[in-house]
Amino acid sequence: MTSSLRLGPHTIEGRAVLAPMAGLTDQVFRNICRDFGAAMAVSEMNTADTVLWNTRKSMTRLDLSGDNGLRVLQIAGSEPEQMAAAAKAAGNLGADIVDINMGCPAKKVCRKLSGSALLRDEKRVLRILEAVTAATPLPVTLKMRTGWDPEHRNGVRIAQLAEATGIKSLAVHGRTRACLFTGNAEYETIRAIKAAVGIPVFANGDICTAADAQRVLDYTGADGVMIGRGALGQPWLFNEINQALDDCATGGQILPTAVTVKQRRDIILTHLDALYSLYGEHQGVRVGRKHLSWYCKQIEGAKVFRDTIVRIESAEEQLQLTRHFFADAESARDLQMAALTSGINVPCPTNNPSSVITQHQ
Ligand SMILES: Cc1cc2nc3c(=O)[nH]c(=O)nc-3n(C[C@H](O)[C@H](O)[C@H](O)COP(=O)(O)O)c2cc1C
Repeated sequence: MTSSLRLGPHTIEGRAVLAPMAGLTDQVFRNICRDFGAAMAVSEMNTADTVLWNTRKSMTRLDLSGDNGLRVLQIAGSEPEQMAAAAKAAGNLGADIVDINMGCPAKKVCRKLSGSALLRDEKRVLRILEAVTAATPLPVTLKMRTGWDPEHRNGVRIAQLAEATGIKSLAVHGRTRACLFTGNAEYETIRAIKAAVGIPVFANGDICTAADAQRVLDYTGADGVMIGRGALGQPWLFNEINQALDDCATGGQILPTAVTVKQRRDIILTHLDALYSLYGEHQGVRVGRKHLSWYCKQIEGAKVFRDTIVRIESAEEQLQLTRHFFADAESARDLQMAALTSGINVPCPTNNPSSVITQHQ
């Protein structure tokens, strides 16, 4: 039985949620991840400057109407009044939850002292949290890093400020702003944050397998895990995590759930179709390329496929090449299986479907 968590008035089923990733966690990918068991999926970040919300790109990002679960809209900014106005506007757009971004180290975001750059100005953090929670009746959540740099890991203080201002949950990426994406995520500060607050805490950073999720939950005591890059090319990871946590709760051991090459093909074809519908053909094909490069990882011939796919401009061709690539992978698997059962050794290790399916990127 999957465990549930309360976020303000909402109950979410499961302990693994999808992280916001600009350019990747659009409505299509959020819906796919939710279909595969993600308990919640946060939108890509949106600037708090609502004057900029009427561009085509922003309008696509802000359209939550087709989301198949809780609608969590993330805002990024540094001016308390502007953040408050954005939170109000998020409610008008149908958001169920407003998420504040204090976790993104992108230069574009940090130059304006928003995202994770805010963490070094605790007074401003407090003013933003107060302004946003006062401006909207919606539950407000916070995405943060462990601090500004390794010498200034003020994550515990920020978390306590957040709880005091009525923030309903925290997602903590186990790196400081200065770490960007280098080194390994550390979970000690997340553990300290969990011990210091009573609201749900999601541990985030470098969690790519069900075993990682179990280990991080055990170590930090966090209520859930937030998965970003680990879900790329394997959105079924959420089901694997749910299954593993259930099995552990009942004393079983973690076993990866098999997703066949054929199932993988069907998932990506559905994914591509939905991207063309959301973005139109031109942009849909481009976004599709990124996801294809993750879906085909660890399958024989992936490099050639990737090199070909980057040059393809039409949806029809992209779909056709994808069908062929996965059909080839499937028949290579059949060949391998036939060889194995007949005792013939076919030296084709990277084509082994069990490595394709059970290894994680
Ligand atoms: C391409 C990319 C885009 C991201 N965009 C956002 C974003 O829009 N908002 C945010 O809070 N974090 C963003 N992040 C950070 C992720 O949410 C997450 O904290 C980080 O990737 C660490 O988790 P992971 O190791 O599971 O990927 C982004 C990360 C990546 C790789």
